[in-house]
Amino acid sequence: MIEAAAPTYFRLYVWERPVRAFHWVNATAVLALAITGFVIGNPFRMAYAAEAYQQNWFGTVRFVHFAAGWIFLVAFVARIYWGFVGDQYARWRHYIPHTRWQWREIVEVLRIDIFQTKVSGEFSSGHNALAGLTYSVSFLVYAFQIATGFALYASMSDAWVPSLFVWVVPLFGGDAGVRFWHHAAMWFFILFTMIHVYLVFYHDYVEGRGTTSSMVGGWKFARVDTLTAPDQSDEACEPDEPAESG
Ligand code: HEM
Ligand code: HEM
Repeated sequence: MIEAAAPTYFRLYVWERPVRAFHWVNATAVLALAITGFVIGNPFRMAYAAEAYQQNWFGTVRFVHFAAGWIFLVAFVARIYWGFVGDQYARWRHYIPHTRWQWREIVEVLRIDIFQTKVSGEFSSGHNALAGLTYSVSFLVYAFQIATGFALYASMSDAWVPSLFVWVVPLFGGDAGVRFWHHAAMWFFILFTMIHVYLVFYHDYVEGRGTTSSMVGGWKFARVDTLTAPDQSDEACEPDEPAESG
């Protein structure tokens, strides 16, 4: 009986600490912003147990929204900075497709995830090229949500950061227009989260490289025999180096 040799895997450190910190701070802020934003846009009546002036639940919801908004902004600015100084998996050239190899990988991932004409393939060790492109587009929506959110906030705050965005209000024909588009963009975040979490689990399943836990510990697994695939040699991102484990 012939037994197939078991492939050898090693641990590859792909997500540095700042990337993981950004991810979880950002994910928590987005959840808080979407829930509180939804309530701000669709306020419901509370059955008051005391006099109305003794309660301020809507004020608390707004406070949480604004506090999460500041956290969202700081994390986003930090992540942009890290895209210039971080390792090869965190840098912007890994996200914005600009090589033939990255476009080929986009087609490959579409065939597996969407058209289901392939079962599995060899993917980049960091984000695959389609995921990178999706994150790049989503970062544009982050900037949009920050600009519209702080433009609305400018009328309630004397801080200098919100005042940087007052020019956004006339662009949308007033506060009502800004609120409409700020509200509409919330649905992007809700859809993104649903598809994102599904795809993280799906790729964990088809790749078997520990995708889900990689955003906790930073490590993925890579097969030694896929390291020097010839079609990766002309790629702008350097080929993977086995990292020391531990
Ligand atoms: C249980 C929930 C979540 C899990 C398990 C998870 C896991 C992951 C993993 C494993 C990656 C890397 C994927 C890859 O290899 O391409 C990733 C990237 C990312 N996730 Fe999540 N995620 C979760 C929720 C969220 C939420 C709620 C958001 C915000 C809407 C979010 C935004 C992002 C972004 C922006 C990236 C790219 C990060 C970067 O490159 O800096 N994630 N996530
Ligand atoms: C993922 C990011 C965000 C989401 C999903 C989100 C969602 C929402 C939603 C749905 C509303 C209600 C709009 C309406 O129908 O009237 C809202 C209002 C608002 N948001 Fe955001 N938001 C986000 C980020 C931000 C940021 C970064 C700020 C900056 C401080 C901000 C500031 C505001 C302000 C000032 C209002 C109006 C509050 C009021 O008039 O009571 N938002 N947001």
